[in-house]
Amino acid sequence: MNPPDWYLRDGYRMLPPEWQPRVEFPVILGTDVSGVIEDVAEDVTGFKPGDAVYAMVRFPTGLAGQSRAYAEYVTAPASEIALKPARVDHAHAAAAPMSLLTAWQFLIDQGHDLPNPLQPHPHQPVPLEGRTVLVNGAAGGVGHLVVQLAKWKGAQVIAVASGRQEAFVRGLGADDFIDYTRVAPEAVVTGVDLVVDCVGGPTSGRFLQTLKRGGALFPIFPLGFDGAEEAARRGVTVSATQVRSNGQQLATLSGLLNDGTVRIAIDSRYPLSDARAAHERAAKGHIAGKLVLTVRE
Ligand SMILES: NC(=O)c1ccc[n+]([C@@H]2O[C@H](COP(=O)([O-])OP(=O)(O)OC[C@H]3O[C@@H](n4cnc5c(N)ncnc54)[C@H](OP(=O)(O)O)[C@@H]3O)[C@@H](O)[C@H]2O)c1
Repeated sequence: MNPPDWYLRDGYRMLPPEWQPRVEFPVILGTDVSGVIEDVAEDVTGFKPGDAVYAMVRFPTGLAGQSRAYAEYVTAPASEIALKPARVDHAHAAAAPMSLLTAWQFLIDQGHDLPNPLQPHPHQPVPLEGRTVLVNGAAGGVGHLVVQLAKWKGAQVIAVASGRQEAFVRGLGADDFIDYTRVAPEAVVTGVDLVVDCVGGPTSGRFLQTLKRGGALFPIFPLGFDGAEEAARRGVTVSATQVRSNGQQLATLSGLLNDGTVRIAIDSRYPLSDARAAHERAAKGHIAGKLVLTVRE
């Protein structure tokens, strides 16, 4: 499960009107899947029935409800799927695609040169080795993977989350931890190279003061950000991108999941038939890792 599941359920009413896709209800929610191929179209060469695969299906092309992942059977373009990491079970593989592709496309490689709907220029990752990276929302679906990718690339990581998440994010490799319920990170941190704000929205601008000149702020949810002038004054780059389905990147990421470089944490799992309870859990927030729907145990 991912935040767009509840945004779609709600007709994207949380987005500004100009960003709201037109949704024809009823819809089947969901984008991320892991399962076994039942059949392939005649022109598909890379995959065959019986292959275990995972995917983020039709995102953002199908964000108005054409991905339909909360189901026993799903169709997906072959270009969006990859072989499931063999050492990872379906629940963990299904939990990976959107969050992990988001972390990868922000930090490592955007993976395409299509126009960026969020800004006039392409999103550019920045060097991580030897740099200090602050990750806000470090315990969440995207955040817990950003922490791991930044560590893998040799960064020093300051994780920001609620206090109950400290052991979890330190276990993922975070070097320092700030409990935002006790301390405002922007009041105590200065001179970092990169802030990855996995909460985002209108409050992202407060992180500008934590960055050194030449640093970068990546708001994962950039809508509502209004700090462009302050960023220019401080010599800070602000950049975002919209995650896109990408089977080739998932194939690369299979390797990192298989060898344990990147671990997917599951907060809780629910049977598909009780997706409602999973959405109620999501609404309570403070998710540590991912929520997963299981079709069959
Ligand atoms: N650009 C894109 O294409 C893209 C792709 C994927 C996701 N997103 C967006 O990125 C955001 C995060 O997605 P997600 O899947 O990671 O969501 P998530 O799993 O719900 O994670 C959000 C995390 O933020 C933490 N948090 C909440 N309030 C906070 C605060 N004030 N300060 C610091 N941490 C706080 C929560 O736990 P604690 O409060 O316990 O720390 C939670 O772990 C969503 O808005 C989503 O729409 C954008």
